[in-house]
Amino acid sequence: MLRGRRILLIVSGSVAAYKVLILARLLRAEGAELRAVLTAGGARFVTKESLAAITGAAVQDDLWAAEAEIGHIRLARWAEAVVVAPASANRLAQMAQGLADDLAGCVLLATRAPVLVAPAMNPAMWEHPATRANIALLAARGVRVAGPDDGPMAEPESGPGRLVEPEALRAAIAALFAPRGLLAGRHALVTSGPTQEPIDPVRYIANRSSGRQGHAIAAALAAEGARVTLVTGPVAIPDPPGVSVVRVTTAREMLAACEAALPAEIAVCAAAVADWRVAEEAGQKLKKTPGAAAPTLAMALNPDILATLSRHARRPRLVIGFAAETEHVLEHAREKLERKGCDWIVANDVSGDVMGGEENAVHLVTRQGVEQWPRMPKARVAEQLVARIAAFAP
Ligand code: CTP
Repeated sequence: MLRGRRILLIVSGSVAAYKVLILARLLRAEGAELRAVLTAGGARFVTKESLAAITGAAVQDDLWAAEAEIGHIRLARWAEAVVVAPASANRLAQMAQGLADDLAGCVLLATRAPVLVAPAMNPAMWEHPATRANIALLAARGVRVAGPDDGPMAEPESGPGRLVEPEALRAAIAALFAPRGLLAGRHALVTSGPTQEPIDPVRYIANRSSGRQGHAIAAALAAEGARVTLVTGPVAIPDPPGVSVVRVTTAREMLAACEAALPAEIAVCAAAVADWRVAEEAGQKLKKTPGAAAPTLAMALNPDILATLSRHARRPRLVIGFAAETEHVLEHAREKLERKGCDWIVANDVSGDVMGGEENAVHLVTRQGVEQWPRMPKARVAEQLVARIAAFAP
């Protein structure tokens, strides 16, 4: 896949820059032709000499020297893929702004090749709204995002922000050259995570959904080339790469965001939507009065997002729901398929450790029959479901 491919590596400032040397070796072992641009920050962590030795090419680090030798336009045109790894928070901000005050910035503006960024930074910097907004903007412009991984950092801290490992980065680069995905040109809508229904300004009703399965489905749809809108309740996991994320809190907000995202060819409702909300949210914090009885909360029914999408005037051609059951899984799933009017139900038994866990054991229930899938990681369930969606070719 990578033999003879011309790949430009842009190395910006992060302690993880050393991993790019390993990446460069992997890419060269597959026959890729490399060039590298070292930013001022990147040069603090790897030397121009080691990068040149491992890429087998002269490394550019100066806009004006590059102008004399090859020029940022020629470098941008030479590249069949541009990989920014590690991509620091500052580099992502510069890219989002379209700044061209150094060689990397000029090349990134001038290239028409696919661009992949592999962020690396402290978890707080990764989670900062400014970085989230920059990533969302870049993804919306078609920049692919690999990682970051979650785990221990250089400082005594752990969380999302680690540069993806060289082998995973090599695979993400190879994917840039893969044939366009099976769902290219399709719009997929995915709901994920729990909803939170307020009781008063400080209290709410929620559930244990982690959003892992829904987020994995959004990532797998995007990996097949679909344009994905992910409408998610509050979750503690990172946004999937290459997906537009709409954050909501309540079921009613989730429904409004889903309707605003239509039309879509595919809808996957994986969110654990609260069935009920408190009928009247208190405007002020409920206080306990000494000696008084505990309050009784009157509940109201929430809209059913899956059922609404299934009967919508702009109904997606394929509507898929989930059924989280603790008993009589198939019976309830079949009943839900009819009652909600969707096409498929992914039924899972949540009586064990599924909710919030890494694995899932599901049945795919359609009007044609039931398939039992073996227990597997949620990412594999997502890939298998997306393969089925692509085969259905809506
Ligand atoms: N769902 C939805 N909107 C709701 C409730 C559920 O879109 N207000 C969707 C979920 O995203 C899921 C499916 O409906 O795809 C099934 O949800 P589940 O909670 O299993 O079923 P319920 O309809 O809530 O039925 P029950 O609580 O009786 O199991």
